[in-house]
Amino acid sequence: MRSLWRAFRYLKRHWPLLVIGLGALLLVDSVQLLIPKLVQWYFDALGTPRFTSWYILRTSLAIFAISLSIGVFRFLWRLTFVGVSFRVDRDIRRDFFDHLQKLSVGFHARRKIGELMALATNDLNAVRMAVGMGLILMVDAIFMGIVCAVMMLHISWKLTLFAALPCPFITILVLTVGRVLHRRFKEQQKAYADVTEHVQETISGIRVIQGYTQEENFAEQYSGLNRNLFRAAIRVAITWGMFGPVVHCLVSIAIGILLYFGGKAAIFGDISTGMFVAFFMYLQMIAWPFMAVGWLVNLFQRGGASMLRLSEVMDADPDIKDAPDAIEMESLTGPIEIRNLDFKYDDTEEPVLHDLSVTFEKGKTTGIIGRTGSGKTTLIDLLLRLHDPPEGTVFFDGTDVRKLKVESLRRSIGIVPQDSFLFSDSIAQNIAFGRTDAPEELIQHAAEVSQLIDDIRGFPQGFDTLVGERGVTLSGGQRQRTAIARALLLDPNILILDDSLSAIDVETEEAILDKLRDVRKGKTCLIVSHRILTVKDADNIVVLECGKITQSGTHDELVEKEGLYADLYRRQQLQRELEQFESDDAKSGVK
Ligand SMILES: Nc1ncnc2c1ncn2[C@@H]1O[C@H](COP(=O)(O)OP(=O)(O)OP(=O)(O)O)[C@@H](O)[C@H]1O
Ligand SMILES: [Mg+2]
Repeated sequence: MRSLWRAFRYLKRHWPLLVIGLGALLLVDSVQLLIPKLVQWYFDALGTPRFTSWYILRTSLAIFAISLSIGVFRFLWRLTFVGVSFRVDRDIRRDFFDHLQKLSVGFHARRKIGELMALATNDLNAVRMAVGMGLILMVDAIFMGIVCAVMMLHISWKLTLFAALPCPFITILVLTVGRVLHRRFKEQQKAYADVTEHVQETISGIRVIQGYTQEENFAEQYSGLNRNLFRAAIRVAITWGMFGPVVHCLVSIAIGILLYFGGKAAIFGDISTGMFVAFFMYLQMIAWPFMAVGWLVNLFQRGGASMLRLSEVMDADPDIKDAPDAIEMESLTGPIEIRNLDFKYDDTEEPVLHDLSVTFEKGKTTGIIGRTGSGKTTLIDLLLRLHDPPEGTVFFDGTDVRKLKVESLRRSIGIVPQDSFLFSDSIAQNIAFGRTDAPEELIQHAAEVSQLIDDIRGFPQGFDTLVGERGVTLSGGQRQRTAIARALLLDPNILILDDSLSAIDVETEEAILDKLRDVRKGKTCLIVSHRILTVKDADNIVVLECGKITQSGTHDELVEKEGLYADLYRRQQLQRELEQFESDDAKSGVK
């Protein structure tokens, strides 16, 4: 319940609509409560001189007017409450999304996409229903319940006591069912998230699934999850389904008791027939608040469980944020230094980087080479503060990276990440992602440097060709080159290529590197790779092995020394010669 309070706080800013809605609701309830009174007077007038044709007409007209106003005002409160609940839904959705974007890469690595998707859809709906419908039911039930009870007490306190006999049972029922419902709703929401997650994973991994003919396996797993969801939904339906009939039964028992004692009381002249009929009508009316309480419990349990799940994400600390005294990063005038950096991920025991010290000189290109898993991407992520390095280890121009404003830091870096993600948009917009107002020439230039221009000319709509999920599927190399163009377009002070040429053939790579030579001038560049060819022209090359820098120097210096670099060089040289030999062979037709 406490978690739901947070959702209700969103109502505050929509108070004018809320007041109109509540006003209309209370008006409907009030005039509705007049009907039994009119009927009471009508019955009591029967057989008396008051019962004239004018009296009959007046009563009928009054009931007609009441019905009409109920119709109009009921429409009004429904309209306003639906409006309010969708506004709250919109506000929570916005806050959820904003916060989700602030959460660090580390958080997203721990959470499943499907689970977050379920939160943004199913759970939000449950919260909206609790806030919108829940509020109506609550106000309605409290008002109707109290006024009906007062009216009934006014007619006869004795009869009211008899009619109230089943009340404690209803309360016990509501509380017990509520507890069970809460547990079952949580299970249902979790089962729903599991199903969403599985669908999402299947769609994302469809190529692998089909390639490994794992469709049946996935279908079987899905059936299992689907069955769980079905069972969870049925369990909720059974618990909830029991509620209505039992309340009805208890109300019917109350009516039975009432008819017995009420009949007797009326016979003995305690109350008039009209009063008895009115009492009977109020009793039927008061059944609704009891039912509404059941519904309310249902909605609140569901909404509470969902809001709790949403709150877990909305309260997650965006662990990477500006320090209170953070400063803007100006354009880089000095080196990037890493001093005695040790780093381990939260969920791992072993450190990934050990006592790493290196300087990336301003305006120079540094190649970073190392085997897979040696910590290259981790090192780059720390420079960008996608993960936070320990204090006093990473410095830009002598300023600790943790003292810099994250946004200004990231804005001065052009990063080509290892996985070149493309958005479902045109290729031009993908390139201009970091600067949406970039003029066409710049986009074109970026595509030229990254050797993508010829591919783009071959696409049906050139730069306007849609790529990603809604458009053509680009090859791995085309994706990497699009990602390179995206970073180049920013013309950043610092350019980082994280293994960004791995899917590109050697000739194209050489052409890109050649073009980059101009672009790199005056920029601090880091080029991460497994290939010697990619880094050999760098001003300095560092070799990363198991999170440590084991060698550094220029290409010529490193090939002379024993170590991983020279090993890799010899092996890759041999491989190239072999490939060259094979292709020459094929061309001369010896084979
Ligand atoms: N988010 C993470 N949580 C836990 N461990 C991680 C995480 N990311 C990477 N690692 C681990 O850190 C080590 C270094 O990974 P990293 O991605 O930095 O290697 P890399 O040198 O970039 O490799 P590659 O050349 O394959 O890209 C690996 O052992 C990896 O399993
Ligand atoms: Mg990597």
